[in-house]
Amino acid sequence: MSTDAKPEYSPGLAGVIAGETKICWVDPNAGLMYRGYDIHEMGNKATFEEVAYLLLNGELPNGKQLKEFKEQIAAQRELPKEVVEMLRLLPKSTHPMDMLRTGVSMLSAFDKDISDNSHDANIRKSIKLIARVMTLITDGWRISQREKPLPEKPELSQAGNFFYKLDGRVPEAWQTRMMDTIFNLYADHEFNASTFAARVTASTLAGIYAAVTSAVGTLKGPLHGGANEESMKMLEEIKTPDRAEEWLKKQLAAKAKIMGFGHRVYKKGDSRVPVMRKIAHDLGKRTGKENWVLICEKLEEVMDREKGLCANVDLYAAPVFWMLGFKPELNTPLFAASRVAGWCAHVTEQHDNNRLIRPRSLYTGPKLRKYPGPPGSA
Ligand code: ACO
Repeated sequence: MSTDAKPEYSPGLAGVIAGETKICWVDPNAGLMYRGYDIHEMGNKATFEEVAYLLLNGELPNGKQLKEFKEQIAAQRELPKEVVEMLRLLPKSTHPMDMLRTGVSMLSAFDKDISDNSHDANIRKSIKLIARVMTLITDGWRISQREKPLPEKPELSQAGNFFYKLDGRVPEAWQTRMMDTIFNLYADHEFNASTFAARVTASTLAGIYAAVTSAVGTLKGPLHGGANEESMKMLEEIKTPDRAEEWLKKQLAAKAKIMGFGHRVYKKGDSRVPVMRKIAHDLGKRTGKENWVLICEKLEEVMDREKGLCANVDLYAAPVFWMLGFKPELNTPLFAASRVAGWCAHVTEQHDNNRLIRPRSLYTGPKLRKYPGPPGSA
């Protein structure tokens, strides 16, 4: 048996550098940049398509490139009819993230580029995935609500069309702007759990659909993307700002994990929170539902005092999505609708310069022992 010395071990891979990337940098001191551009400068000015182009191609598009990219995405939104049929076959109680995961997996069978992991094929498939992940969410949701999916509006942007296909009304300009900003905030975050899952899958030279399927499955968990659905349940349970402190202290005394708080990388605050909090205030004023934001702020204050823990983006995303009119089950899919751009950029980067991702584990099981033979043979 090997007598290798015990290697260094970091539970949860905390602090471990698992690869190089040129796509995104998360600054532990509350900063975030995509390809060198600060999200705080770009987030509420750029469209989601501009950010997706940047993540995929490394540079911002010029006017012509952006127009073409938008047209290419809009032209790919429609799902194969067999995929729509599959969405109809699923039980109506299926969670939208499970519909999405199954849908992404099924889409692979309809792409003739499925086995081509070249850069150009990955970009072509990324455009389809960015377009169709949104359609899987909107059409899957309508079908689960026993409603007919709405036809695409190719003249609308991704943010506008997504809002329209869920809500049924073409959004006003401010709503589209808000959706673009939210999507921009969520579009990438270096080696987060779902992106890492995508890169591990891609590193075996499995294709981009397999990698994005892994990513969707990973995003659903409440310690990652699923936290924004759980945060809304928490706010509904608290109900009013004056109940927030007592509620939180009780939960902390019971050693409960509070959704929307804490982060593996950020220890001085999540770079996305100030922008999301501002959107939440704006929406609170517009809808007269600022109470939700006041609960969040009270929780932030008490959590900081009691545990020194900061809010993450999912705390404020919850009331933002609620005030925009979306049910909590759609919160994580909304995240996925944007993060698919980051996943695709990372899979492409992985395939362009691949090495199998295969770490070691630290064996803590029984020492070598003798096999006694099949039962009854002694
Ligand atoms: N509520 C209560 N305590 C917490 C929380 C929380 N949300 N987050 C961390 N802690 C505590 C831990 O229990 C631990 O305390 P201890 O030292 O007394 O045991 C301490 O803070 C350090 O936390 P870690 O577990 O080391 O943090 P880790 O980096 O492993 O986990 C994570 C990060 C998973 C995000 C965690 O903070 C958490 O579970 N948060 C709630 C879920 C959530 O909001 N996820 C969304 C993340 S952001 C995103 O995906 C977009």
